[in-house]
Amino acid sequence: MNQRRIFHGRRYGRRLRPSRAQQLKAGLVTLSVDISAPTIDPHALFEGVGGIGEIWLEIGFGGGEHLAAQAAARPDVGFIGCEPFMNGVARLMSDIDARGLKNIRVHPDDARDLMDTLPDASISRCFILFPDPWPKRRHNNRRMVSRENLDGLARILANGATLRLASDHMEYVRWMLGHILDHNAFEWRCQGPKDWRQRPADALPTRYEEKALAKGDSCVYLHFQRRKR
Ligand SMILES: C[S@@+](CC[C@H](N)C(=O)[O-])C[C@H]1O[C@@H](n2cnc3c(N)ncnc32)[C@H](O)[C@@H]1O
Repeated sequence: MNQRRIFHGRRYGRRLRPSRAQQLKAGLVTLSVDISAPTIDPHALFEGVGGIGEIWLEIGFGGGEHLAAQAAARPDVGFIGCEPFMNGVARLMSDIDARGLKNIRVHPDDARDLMDTLPDASISRCFILFPDPWPKRRHNNRRMVSRENLDGLARILANGATLRLASDHMEYVRWMLGHILDHNAFEWRCQGPKDWRQRPADALPTRYEEKALAKGDSCVYLHFQRRKR
C-alpha cells in the first residue's frame, strides 16, 4: 500500500444531477486506475484498445476539456488524468461518453499517489495547466510544482519527454521557472517570447485559462524537456 498525501483542495461542489451522478459512478468503475499495487503497468490499462503507443498524463484536469480534446486528437496515445474534484471528474465522464473516447483512464484523487506507482521513464508527456497558485506564503508548500514533485516527475518521465505547464499567476510562474530550472533533469524549451506567450497550437484553452483571458489577464505557457539520464 502506498502512502497517501494530504490533499488541500476541494473534492465536491454542487450536488450532481442523478443522471450525471450515475454516469460518474459507472465511469469510475470502468476507467479508474487501481493503484493498490506498488507498481502499475500503464500500457496494461489500455489493453484491448489497440494502437496505443505513448502514455501521457494530465495532473489537475479540472473539467477535463483539454484532456478530452487531446485524447480525441490522439487516439494512438493512452491518457491518464488525475483530478480529486469529483464534479470535474463527472464532467469528463460525460465528455468521454458523448465522444466515445476509449483512450482515457482516470485517477480521481491526488496525482502524487498515482505517480508513486508509475514505473521509471513510463510517461512521454505531462500537462500541469493552471495549477492552484496557493498565493499565501504559508501555503506555498502546497504547490504542485515543488522539489519533491519534480523529483517524482523526473523519475516517471522518459528521456526527451515533454512537461507542459501554464499559469496566469505571475508569481507562481516565476516560482515554477525557478524550481524547474534549478532541477537538473529539465531543460526549458524556449527560443523567444512567442514560446511562452502563445498556447501551443495543438491545445485547447482550459476553463481556467478562458476565465483569465476574459478578465484580460495574461497567461504564460512553459515547455520543458526531460534531459537524457
Ligand atoms: C486551478 S484548477 C485548474 C483546472 C484545469 N487544469 C484548468 O486549467 O481549467 C487546479 C486543479 O488542480 C487540481 N489539483 C490540485 N492538487 C492536485 C493534486 N495533488 N492532484 C491532482 N489534481 C490536483 C484541483 O482539484 C483543481 O481542479
